[in-house]
Amino acid sequence: MSELSAEDIQLMKQAIAARDLAYAPYSKFSVGAALLLDNGTIITGNNQENAAYPSGMCAERVAIWKAGSEHPNMVVKKIAITASSSTSTVDKPVGPCGACRQTLSEYEINQKEPITLIFMGEVGKIVKIKSLLSLLPFSFDSSYL
Ligand code: THU
Repeated sequence: MSELSAEDIQLMKQAIAARDLAYAPYSKFSVGAALLLDNGTIITGNNQENAAYPSGMCAERVAIWKAGSEHPNMVVKKIAITASSSTSTVDKPVGPCGACRQTLSEYEINQKEPITLIFMGEVGKIVKIKSLLSLLPFSFDSSYL
């Protein structure tokens, strides 16, 4: 964490705060995401589970859709992600799942500027990646439609 910039640390702290408010009674696996917009606004989200399991939603998509709905012309600069579990210590970096990568890619393509990802577990190493699309080679986009 000490190797991150002050801006990145601040963003990760917001992701941690969001993570700790997650609604994850079934998996016990709490995820928090914090997006930094180019106007300095930070938008957070966390996973929201459901008794009908597939009706739940990941933290990253809760955050990006919240941001997209409130700031339709936004540019997302960065997203910080963190996860913890009440059954074990999450000591590996937790990157976005495939569906979240696809969802985030739509925004990175539209804004024509990369979205930096910074992700961690609860403790341990933090991964920082300059562009979401680098995590999604051969991705599907609107050019196929
Ligand atoms: N989860 C996320 O919120 N983001 C991810 O990228 C991976 C998984 C959530 C979904 C579910 O509530 C819990 O973690 C366990 O899969």
